[in-house]
Amino acid sequence: MQDVLERLREEALAQIQAVRTLDDLEAARVAYLGRHGALKESMRQIGKLAPEERRAAGMAANEVKAAIVNGLEARRQLIERVAAQLTLPTEDLTLPGLHPPLGGEHPLRRAEADLREVFARLGFEVVEGPEVELEYYNFEALNIPADHASRDSFDTFYVGGDVLLRSHTSPVQVRVMEQRQPPIRVVVPGRVYRPDTADATHSPVFHQIEGLVVGEGVTFADLKAVLTMAMRELFGPKTETRFRPSFFPFTEPSAEVDVSYEAGGKRRWLELLGAGMVHPRVFEAVGYDPEQYTGFAFGMGIDRVAMLRYGIPDIRLLLENDLRFLEQL
Ligand code: PHE
Repeated sequence: MQDVLERLREEALAQIQAVRTLDDLEAARVAYLGRHGALKESMRQIGKLAPEERRAAGMAANEVKAAIVNGLEARRQLIERVAAQLTLPTEDLTLPGLHPPLGGEHPLRRAEADLREVFARLGFEVVEGPEVELEYYNFEALNIPADHASRDSFDTFYVGGDVLLRSHTSPVQVRVMEQRQPPIRVVVPGRVYRPDTADATHSPVFHQIEGLVVGEGVTFADLKAVLTMAMRELFGPKTETRFRPSFFPFTEPSAEVDVSYEAGGKRRWLELLGAGMVHPRVFEAVGYDPEQYTGFAFGMGIDRVAMLRYGIPDIRLLLENDLRFLEQL
């Protein structure tokens, strides 16, 4: 009898372990402990035993019953705990999340970063200079005579006295040369200011990147090579550059440089740079010997680069801070 009870205990506990739902658990309870269950059946058998065996068998049967009751209870708790974990939380997980407003890179900053990188690969160092500048650096040291039109207060923002908002990045050429000896190979990105009336191609504040190379034996061919390479890096390998004779007081000879681009299947030219060989008077202003050193300089409009690269039709869009425009990049 004891063996029968022991097998019953093992079988019952194994089955209870396999149960996964409360319904199946109840079915197992009925099967073992119910009125017509396996344990009741064993009890009936015990009743038929000889009296001296009955007591031990009865105790064993009670033990098996207790084990099954405990097993059922433990399993019930486990099933309920798992079910609680699977219950969906009351929040609606299908609702879209919150989108914090994400910043983006401004087209001007992106164009500037591209320019810095292109010139860095050509061996240029990036330096910066002040936006509030002295007349001396903006004009005199650059061989711009006192009667030059650009020195008129209508053409320059004067802060007062001989202090002004720089009208180009060229003064940084002078500041760099004052502080260093050749060889020099720098680019200077930054803001510049002119009291122009804003329209699609003019803005009173815009951006330039200046370039300056000084050394022994630097020639106009180096200038052409560097700018042609840089423009191809920037706008693609088919890009061509066109050098037109021009005039700047601080370079001689001077050139305006146009860059070719495709628009509506046609080749067009965009004036992008002023450039030339550094004027001997500029070298004299910084104490360089113009017989020993030559160099070239260039100044490029970053806004124009951004407009060309990203197809922006109006320079004012760059400065209006309209998110609908800025988010498009
Ligand atoms: N500073 C000139 C401008 O603003 C551009 C330039 C720079 C020309 C360097 C020649 C050399 O128009």
